[in-house]
Amino acid sequence: MYNYPVMTAQEAARLINNNDVIGIGGFSSVGTPKVVPAALAEYANQLHAEGKDFKVGLITGGATGPQVDTALAQAKAVKFRTPFQSNKDMRGAINGGDVQYFDCHLSMIGQDVNYGFLGNVDVAIVEASEIMENGNIILSTSVGISPTLLKVAKKIIIELNAAHTGKLTGMHDIYVPEMPPYRKPFMITSPGDRIGTTYCEVDPKKVIAVVETNMTDNQAGFKPLDDDTRAIGAHVSNFLVSELKRGGIPKEFLPLQSGVGNIANAVIGALGDNPDVPAFSMFTEVIQNSVIDLMLKGRCNYVTGSSLSLTDDALETMYANMDVFGERVLLRSQEITNHPECIRRLGIIALNTALEADIFGNVNSTHVLGTKMMNGIGGSADFARNAFLSIFTTPSMAKGGMISSIVPMVTHTDSSEHSVRVLVTEQGVADLRGKSPSQRARLIIENCAHPDYKQLLWDYLKLSEGKGYHTPHSLRNAFQMHLAFEETGDMRNAKFIL
Ligand code: COA
Repeated sequence: MYNYPVMTAQEAARLINNNDVIGIGGFSSVGTPKVVPAALAEYANQLHAEGKDFKVGLITGGATGPQVDTALAQAKAVKFRTPFQSNKDMRGAINGGDVQYFDCHLSMIGQDVNYGFLGNVDVAIVEASEIMENGNIILSTSVGISPTLLKVAKKIIIELNAAHTGKLTGMHDIYVPEMPPYRKPFMITSPGDRIGTTYCEVDPKKVIAVVETNMTDNQAGFKPLDDDTRAIGAHVSNFLVSELKRGGIPKEFLPLQSGVGNIANAVIGALGDNPDVPAFSMFTEVIQNSVIDLMLKGRCNYVTGSSLSLTDDALETMYANMDVFGERVLLRSQEITNHPECIRRLGIIALNTALEADIFGNVNSTHVLGTKMMNGIGGSADFARNAFLSIFTTPSMAKGGMISSIVPMVTHTDSSEHSVRVLVTEQGVADLRGKSPSQRARLIIENCAHPDYKQLLWDYLKLSEGKGYHTPHSLRNAFQMHLAFEETGDMRNAKFIL
């Protein structure tokens, strides 16, 4: 190993100062540093007990593990956080106003950091699977924005994780885009094209600590499939098969992107199980468990993404079958996996999840009742805006039916009607391409809304249709369903004002 100072996590944490901005490597809860952030939280607790101030700013690639978000949120040690989280404690701190949160497209955060839009990064903490003789590093189970953080940070702390040493060598493609006006096109014309190096460059002068670990990511599992997720998966795959048959998708098929969470994992599983869907490749942000099964079955033949967001047993399966996975899995930075240029050129079919969608096709993926942050926009809109075909899925109801996911007007817009091409619930599919707002509303209510809510949504539409509006909204009634939930706990109690 290069002659870097090796120390304990506690010693490394003490090299971080109050008000520092910390760049955390890794992505979607995997490949993130573990012991130094946890030690930093302990250090913050100790300083707070002594009556001293200690808070840091946190810039990450995306979601992190509990050692980062749970530990630092519980220690009240975070001043601001960007660009994405999916952690209960951090969510609570954000919604409670303790942490200032900047929810950002994941393709743009590395670029924002590189441009200096977020100020200086004082310390980058990055997990590596290997340190090379010249001091450069090989990342572990994800890339995220680590290459950019290593480039711009004033100081670097490396967690060297023996759990992955030697297992991932050659599986990364590291490329930091040049600064405009010198940026060049990314020469990616198929998911497997490489444009960078297998390692990240590190300036040895910046490395202030190496901390040795041997820990898996311990990624949480997924909810088992239920009738709704099965039905959504079946609708998506049947829709893609019918598009393929009518020539709406080229006969070679197109690479898929799949979002995060239970529904996205279930949809990819369903696509793989449908014999009429050809074996596919993926150009995606997160590689979730279902992809591993499908690669073993020969249903997915190539995947490139920014993280192996796998449970420990799925990662073990991958490591045990490197003859299948070694040449077929490639990890890149999120600036490349989510880049509009690559998504548009490759003609990605994008599959993302909505919390709620309105009858005109606008999608809210982030804000419960327009106010409480769930996770963040992630890469959903990077893909939705630029995809060949952008599909959003959601169960038609949430919270045991008290909430309709199809509403008159979304309470927050992440992907607009201009990007959302197809909406799918367990009830069916609304193909919105080429449709006016009135036509979209009819399709969505008829095909996607739950029967419990159909009449309410028809009643809403009738309030303003024929009044000479392009988008027939009734401003005084647009949020009556949300208000009914707030006031009575059930959207079905909504009453429209005539
Ligand atoms: N109102 C209130 N709560 C809602 C809701 C609504 N309209 N729709 C869903 N929820 C709740 C669910 O009840 C569930 O709550 P619980 O955790 O207390 O059970 C939670 O939201 C998650 O819903 P679930 O149905 O399990 O879906 P999921 O795990 O697939 O997550 C998103 C859905 C939208 C939260 C998730 O996909 C996300 O964060 N998306 C944005 C980022 C993104 O798309 N990234 C990928 C791009 S590459």
